[in-house]
Amino acid sequence: MKKPKHHIFVCGSFRAAGGPQGVCHKKNSLGLLQYLEGELADRGLTDVVVSSTGCLKVCDSGPIMIVYPEGWWFGRVEDEAAVDAIIDALETGKPAAAYLIA
Ligand code: FES
Repeated sequence: MKKPKHHIFVCGSFRAAGGPQGVCHKKNSLGLLQYLEGELADRGLTDVVVSSTGCLKVCDSGPIMIVYPEGWWFGRVEDEAAVDAIIDALETGKPAAAYLIA
């Protein structure tokens, strides 16, 4: 198996005892996950894997998406423009400062 160049984790707010309940899910993070995957495909970024996660414990800044191996944590990813900024960061190597939380 070839490792992906980037791995994007999208907070799905899942809790150990059940389904998604947190801030990110309520602000449509999983809907944006679908948009993210579509945009990556449209741009031909086939070496990026997207996964949904449980709560990442920074709910106040949600919705959260994080990118590895860069270690970029993006917050307030509330719309398609924010997702576009994250994909732009993958292509340019420069994270969108407006959304970086760590
Ligand atoms: S629900 Fe996303 S960080 Fe907690």
